[in-house]
Amino acid sequence: MYRTKNCGELRIADVEKNVTLSGWVQRARKMGGMTFVDLRDRYGVTQLVFSEDSNADLCEKASKLGREYVIQVSGTVRERQSKNANIPTGDIEIAAETLNVLNESKTPPFTIDNNTDGGDELRMKYRYLDLRRECVRKNLELRHKMTMEVRRYLDAQGFIEVETPMLIASTPEGARDFVVPSRMNPGQFYALPQSPQLFKQLLMVSGFDRYFQIVKCFRDEDLRADRQPEFTQIDCEMSFVEQEDVITLFEGMAKHLFKTIRNVELTEKFPRITWHDAMKYYGSDKPDTRFDMKFVELMDIMKGHGFGVFDSATYIGGICAKGAASYTRKQLDALTDFVRRPQIGAKGMVYARVESDGNVKSSVDKFYTQETLQQMKNAFAAEPGDLILILSGDDAMKTRKQLCELRLEVAEQLGMRDKNKFSCLWVVDFPLFEYSEEEGRYMAMHHPFTSPKPEDVPLLDGSDIGKVRANAYDMVINGVEVGGGSIRIFDSSLQNKMFRLLGFTPEQAQQQFGWLLDAFKYGAPPHGGLAYGLDRWVSLFAGLDSIRDCIAFPKNNSGRDTMIDAPSKLEPSQLEELNIALDIKENKIIS
Ligand code: AMO
Repeated sequence: MYRTKNCGELRIADVEKNVTLSGWVQRARKMGGMTFVDLRDRYGVTQLVFSEDSNADLCEKASKLGREYVIQVSGTVRERQSKNANIPTGDIEIAAETLNVLNESKTPPFTIDNNTDGGDELRMKYRYLDLRRECVRKNLELRHKMTMEVRRYLDAQGFIEVETPMLIASTPEGARDFVVPSRMNPGQFYALPQSPQLFKQLLMVSGFDRYFQIVKCFRDEDLRADRQPEFTQIDCEMSFVEQEDVITLFEGMAKHLFKTIRNVELTEKFPRITWHDAMKYYGSDKPDTRFDMKFVELMDIMKGHGFGVFDSATYIGGICAKGAASYTRKQLDALTDFVRRPQIGAKGMVYARVESDGNVKSSVDKFYTQETLQQMKNAFAAEPGDLILILSGDDAMKTRKQLCELRLEVAEQLGMRDKNKFSCLWVVDFPLFEYSEEEGRYMAMHHPFTSPKPEDVPLLDGSDIGKVRANAYDMVINGVEVGGGSIRIFDSSLQNKMFRLLGFTPEQAQQQFGWLLDAFKYGAPPHGGLAYGLDRWVSLFAGLDSIRDCIAFPKNNSGRDTMIDAPSKLEPSQLEELNIALDIKENKIIS
């Protein structure tokens, strides 16, 4: 038997027991006539003591153990002289009697410690060593716990887990697909699913009624802290439901996760905001509502006073940072530089401080009377000590997005984005379509299978389909979109109309989605669902900055796995077998 106990479980009550432990050497150090070894496994760290007095050879052998050697040790548990309150096993140590080196280790390229000296790249290259670090392992343990609770909750609600295929057909809507060549069908490709959307809808046609799947999804899109090319959805679908039913059930699941994982009891209903209001007040469809700082529009008050920048604007809006009037000129200049960065693209920023006597002092004082500035102050309900920051532009949506970035930055600086505080929100009433300048046509904002709000169906025949609202909803926590879904179209003629509005000819629709349209002709029930992003949920609960840290083997920002060196080239013989001839435009490779 390799072990009778693990490295995290022995306590003072175990003193005098004979035990055998196996694990990795965290460190070995010789002091006086003793060798101390910290032995680590998944469960914790236990101190081993080898003494020259009882066995000089063994003590010498232990002192030569290298970091990350795998060893087996037997000995007696005894109380420690100098206790370590930082670890659960800190009251005891093992007086070692035998030492068996099970495997040696090369010196690891970085220290296997929470405070490691390893940089990002090195840790990713040796991810299996990185995963030995407690802080990384903990994230995967949390992930496991969360998937267990998800399954428990959904099983109790009568959901059935069904697997859907990974090799499917490519569709032009949505993000780019990852594709896989088919050897048996030369010149043809499968696509990896961006989500199991259509299969789960087919499962509703099949009568499964309540489906879920914890499933890998693949999207070839630009990567960010909350985006990976392969990520995991908690994907769900239900029959005979309306929006309210879906929202209630999945709000219940969110509350279950908060309770079981974070021990946070959320009793209130989650607030809801329409997409329109989210854009108006926060400039984002995923507002961070841990703090208020809503936008105030100032066109009526600030336009037409001779300040050229505002006079030519079609949108003027601002935020009020409570208690931030003490911001120095240098800090304000830094904020101006921040909004001017090309990624944000604002031209400049106007600021106004509310002084202790209530007067407003602004960077554009020469254009405004104190009376106008007071009107502005009142529009924000600003008080002495507050700081008002204003942006303007000739495109309201663009300017709101810039103001959104400013709002988040200021809140970050003022410590308002506490990772241990959670603010959950449903965003509802999304537009069904959004116009794509790039494509020169309307695209589905969610996906082409989302139904319009019944009261907006007549607008589908009108001239401004941009006004049609969808039966779609997103859940947002702390400014992160943790999930989204919709009530689907289940009528083939409405689905056909939708394809037509999205610019498909009947032939194209039939060719790409004929099987779905056919299925809808065989008694499709009303249905709807949602998918949560598991990686985002875990990183939120773990307080991580990037979802990478809760994925065992993630990709880097260029979509590479540097450990296994993927993606990689194929052997000519493999290409031959796949009937593929490459003509790579070298300078088009995106690095
Ligand atoms: P959607 O595209 O909104 O909806 O995706 C659902 C949720 O998945 C997460 N997510 C991601 N997480 C990490 N990396 C990514 N690249 C990534 N992309 C999305 C987000 C998101 O809210 N089929 C629909 C769901 C439905 O209608 O039922 C869908 O896929 O948390």
